Amino acid sequence: MLSKKMEKELNEQINREMYSAYLYMSMSSHSNSIGLTGFANWFMVQYNEEMEHAMKIYDYVNSQGGKVKLMAIDEPLSDFKNPMDMFQKTLKHEQFITKCINELVDLSINEKDHATQIFLQWFVTEQIEEEGNDNDIISKLELAGSKGNGLFMIDKELSIRVYNPPVKEKN
Ligand code: FEO
Repeated sequence: MLSKKMEKELNEQINREMYSAYLYMSMSSHSNSIGLTGFANWFMVQYNEEMEHAMKIYDYVNSQGGKVKLMAIDEPLSDFKNPMDMFQKTLKHEQFITKCINELVDLSINEKDHATQIFLQWFVTEQIEEEGNDNDIISKLELAGSKGNGLFMIDKELSIRVYNPPVKEKN
């Protein structure tokens, strides 16, 4: 069972994951508009992953007898200077999400809510991967450059990312 405080904070996190999806959808659209279809693909996969994160928390709140309260999603940024700008903003946003997840874990520890603490471990691991991916791409953009052949190569690499939906366990 969730405390009212935990229910509220998990609902806030659902909203943040939905905003993340919205932000990456916006970056995908921006990438398409400047001809970077590989970047557009990468951000669309990221959009799908963020929706999956939101639904994971949605299902968890429901499974614990809580109630999901959906809130308005802020308008995301829609203009970016260049691909590096998009990935720097992505990394900064993910660092913020990591901080929020850590605060949720702290709350679960304070409340001795072991179920939620275990549930959140998946997100702790996921954030390590997400920040790692962003740092990798930023390094590549630094090395290969933000235009010309280097950018073309990175765009090609990002075009192969595929979204793998989670496999639902059968009861
Ligand atoms: Fe759902 Fe990118 O963290």
